Amino acid sequence: MNARAHANNRDHRASSPSTILVTGGAGFIGSHACVELLDHGYELIVVDNYSNSSPQVFARVQRIAGRFVGAVYELDIRDRRALSAVFDRHSVDAVVHFAALKAVGESTRMPVEYYDVNVGGTTSLLRAMHEHGVHRLVFSSSCSLYGDAGGGRLSEASPARPTNPYAASKWTCEQILADVCRRIPDFTALSLRYFNPVGAHPSGLLGEDPSGTPDNLMPYLAQVAVGRRARLPVFGDDYATPDGTPVRDYLHVMDTVEAHRVALDHFTDGPGMHVYNLGAGRGWSVLDVVAAFREACGKPIPYDIEPRRPGDVTELVADAAAVARAWGWRPTRDLAAMCQDAWRFQQLNPSGYAGPAGSKSAKE
Ligand code: NAD
Ligand code: WQD
Repeated sequence: MNARAHANNRDHRASSPSTILVTGGAGFIGSHACVELLDHGYELIVVDNYSNSSPQVFARVQRIAGRFVGAVYELDIRDRRALSAVFDRHSVDAVVHFAALKAVGESTRMPVEYYDVNVGGTTSLLRAMHEHGVHRLVFSSSCSLYGDAGGGRLSEASPARPTNPYAASKWTCEQILADVCRRIPDFTALSLRYFNPVGAHPSGLLGEDPSGTPDNLMPYLAQVAVGRRARLPVFGDDYATPDGTPVRDYLHVMDTVEAHRVALDHFTDGPGMHVYNLGAGRGWSVLDVVAAFREACGKPIPYDIEPRRPGDVTELVADAAAVARAWGWRPTRDLAAMCQDAWRFQQLNPSGYAGPAGSKSAKE
């Protein structure tokens, strides 16, 4: 973005926050958000304990955005003293809170850890914010809190029926935030319930780099296409969907982070808790995604139909009309772009961030 565009952005959000604390800013969505916010003139302070990420990502963020993330702290958000010291040192206008544990299956095996990090981490953050008079928060929530909703588009009024500790931790955080907003008159919490964010930055420098075997469909597909894994397991083809595989609402990570940038302009709409679904409002089956990825990478994707994955639900598709009405935000990137960008990242980074930035492997 050029200097003039920066100036226009600053004018546009004259009363909006300008220094943002980003928790979990080294992660998949957080790193893309750093680029988006730097591109729009924000000053950033990032905290992350790198439990699911690496500080190497910041060199790439800088390469894309053309400037540094202002300050980066390695800390656990449950460490109140360390967190408080960050607020002492910087004048924070608002917080975008990504830091959490996010693997649904793992949460069923480690429920206490999930509640501790996701709920305990959030209350630790709220305490530091409140002690420092910072009352503006964007919270990463999840469609998983709707549970097995049985099909049809899900609006924010659809009941929360979490079926695992991860989803329950997000629902608990939302309830805490709603209560904090009721008790602290100027507190504003914007809770964004993401459906399935996927894809990568179009530069190929940033993307999803899970450690170990990917839990999620898109990174697994990318690793099969690049030759790191032999075949994709497709978890069940006996669901009540057109092709028998589960349907999800996939959302490009760039659209996801643009919604966060737009959110920062809407603290001035008024205090309180506001909850919005972030989705495309359109469902794709697992086999639809396999076909789109095959198109993007130009190679067949070998797969095996395997038994259903425990805890999977048939369909999760957003009714995302509320955020479009309130903020004018709508996703603009389609499934083809999600697959092309995920594939570009995987091709350029066959070993993820551990390899040299933007290099192709000998295998390609
Ligand atoms: P991610 O794991 O890539 O990023 C989370 C970041 O938080 C990581 O960098 C991790 O190191 C950091 N972190 C974890 N625990 C921490 C702690 N105690 N202290 C400090 N840092 C800590 O995950 P993501 O996909 O970028 O997800 C970001 C947020 O969005 C999470 O809150 C997640 O629950 C939510 N979400 C993600 C998805 C998705 O499909 N990716 C969907 C819905 C909601
Ligand atoms: C998508 C579909 C799998 C891997 C979870 C959370 C949700 C959000 C995103 C955090 C499902 C199938 C997957 C594979 C497959 N995260 N699949 N083979 O489960 O919809 O959502 O992650 O908040 O809250 O619940 O995402 O990408 O794991 O799965 O067949 O190797 O792909 O069965 O139908 P999911 P996913």
